[in-house]
Amino acid sequence: MENKCVDRRSHPPKHGKIVSNNITWTEAKVTHEDRVQLMGHEAATIWLTGLSGSGKSTIAIELERQLILNGHAAYTLDGDNIRYGLSRDLGFAPHDRTENIRRLGEVCKLFNNAGMFVVTAFISPYRADRATARDIVGADRFVEVHLDTAIDVCEQRDPKGLYKKARAGEINDFTGISAPYETPERPSMVIDTSKSSVEDSVSEILHKISHRFRQE
Ligand code: ADX
Repeated sequence: MENKCVDRRSHPPKHGKIVSNNITWTEAKVTHEDRVQLMGHEAATIWLTGLSGSGKSTIAIELERQLILNGHAAYTLDGDNIRYGLSRDLGFAPHDRTENIRRLGEVCKLFNNAGMFVVTAFISPYRADRATARDIVGADRFVEVHLDTAIDVCEQRDPKGLYKKARAGEINDFTGISAPYETPERPSMVIDTSKSSVEDSVSEILHKISHRFRQE
């Protein structure tokens, strides 16, 4: 292994205030190219954003499955699941969502630095928060996919019964009902899951990222 210095870990991140004093950045010896060789692909974050019920988790799980079947290292981060652990201290007020998405941007960066694809399923309703995640991950690795499924379709699906509860006033800050969803202005892709099947949506995303797969 040569002592190349192209791994993204070779520089401390520049964004955000750091509270700790007296900390020192440690350089890695494994390079970005070493990891690409090992994995057989460039890493990326496939960031699915959209309303609850728009199909994020369903598409993420199938995309992850297809990536793994094709021999690519991939892992799904699901919004609900993350709130059982890493973000167990956060709710749905705007500042909590902002912190949730910042943390998750950092997690995606770590997975990508380790060489893996990450597929995310977070509502991530605020443009500024998605911009922060893009900034943390790196724009070249951030593939924003807007699941632009109409709210009435999501509400009709209501897989967790949450729209019903939100309409009844039993849930505060519910995205699309009592909290905003800010539509992405320039996403990499837009998919309406009321028109595109899970299989077609996943194929479309795989096609979009296929230039990252290396042929031996
Ligand atoms: S985000 O806004 O911070 O990105 P996240 O994706 O983690 O949200 O969590 C959304 C999930 O939490 C939804 O799929 C839904 O199951 C659940 N949930 C519970 N309360 C709310 C709420 N007030 N608004 C949106 N989703 C909620």
